[in-house]
Amino acid sequence: MPGAIYAEGLVKTFGDVRALDGVDLDVPEGTVLGMLGPNGAGKTTAVRVLTTLLKPDRGRAEVAGIDVLRKPNEVRRSIGLSGQFAAVDEYLTGRENLQMVGQLYQMSGRAAKARAGELLERFHLTDAADRPAKTYSGGMRRRLDLAAALVVSPPVMFMDEPTTGLDPRNRQQLWEVIRELVAGGTTLLLTTQYLEEADHLAHDIAVVDHGRVIARGTSDQLKARTGGERVELVVHEREHIAAAQQVLRGFGKGEATIEEHIRKVTVPVTGGAKLLAEVIRELDSRGIEIDDIGLRRPTLDDVFISLTGHAAEIDEEAADGDGEDATKGAKGAKGKTGKAGRTGKKNAEGTESAEGAAAKEGTK
Ligand SMILES: Nc1ncnc2c1ncn2[C@@H]1O[C@H](COP(=O)(O)OP(=O)(O)OP(=O)(O)O)[C@@H](O)[C@H]1O
Ligand SMILES: [Mg+2]
Repeated sequence: MPGAIYAEGLVKTFGDVRALDGVDLDVPEGTVLGMLGPNGAGKTTAVRVLTTLLKPDRGRAEVAGIDVLRKPNEVRRSIGLSGQFAAVDEYLTGRENLQMVGQLYQMSGRAAKARAGELLERFHLTDAADRPAKTYSGGMRRRLDLAAALVVSPPVMFMDEPTTGLDPRNRQQLWEVIRELVAGGTTLLLTTQYLEEADHLAHDIAVVDHGRVIARGTSDQLKARTGGERVELVVHEREHIAAAQQVLRGFGKGEATIEEHIRKVTVPVTGGAKLLAEVIRELDSRGIEIDDIGLRRPTLDDVFISLTGHAAEIDEEAADGDGEDATKGAKGAKGKTGKAGRTGKKNAEGTESAEGAAAKEGTK
């Protein structure tokens, strides 16, 4: 039986950009799928298709067991969406925004008021509750938008980069809220560029790049693909980087990589703490002074780099946007969205908000 979110062969092109290039998904009820990918990977496009905001060129999808293309209105009644760009009414206060959502969902005035109060507190907006949303900071808007998506508790939720722009404390708090939601049986698809976030929240992770799911599994399964632990060290003096690299090469199970600007050298190893002691002795005997050394498990960032040949966060300066197949091992940070892509995204903000609002309307 397909899960609460199910997609098969989704394709969506915009001109000659294949935003989705055959995406399959299956999210069991009551679990969280973390959709992880760099700018332009196709995350928002996938969310828009699954939440009925966009028709795919090909493929099919079901949400809560309902066909997304055939019965979009029914799907809308079963989902909550917090889009990438907050869709709140600027002229209403935070409290009014939330009460309005409750009433659109046909809650009684009293129930809507109580729910709004609860959520404002939950998202630390009580002090600002009676100010128009246009006076809110970016992080406050984001929180209000998330609160609006939670006024009723739909069985399936979509959150597109829910914690982008939140400070660390608010991010932690949102993680708490998400954990509670899921403990209550909600199925959630969340997109993120934060590897750490997928690691903390998601039962299952789909790594997306260039419109395709390039890897799928639990965080541990994905980490295992990069092969074990790493020794990471920082040399005291820049001149010692090459010598340290040579030492690590001798102990490593793969290439020792350098991050010149932070004087860091990293190598995959097997052998744990005992090996670490040997590395330290060897560095010492060669007179290479180090500021820091440690053993660490691979992060999802390592996984991303080993899968795609580029890091998950695109260095905009380096991005030249030629869109070559990164799975073949792109040279350096690169993606489909270079500077032009970014600008395009800003332009798209208005549209996205309008559509997000429309979706919320439709849902109520
Ligand atoms: N309405 C549109 N018109 C033209 N191109 C689009 C449109 N929407 C998306 N694209 C393109 O499709 C690709 C995927 O975009 P999408 O917004 O799904 O990426 P994303 O993974 O959400 O990225 P980000 O992390 O930047 O939010 C990009 O190359 C983007 O420029
Ligand atoms: Mg996006």
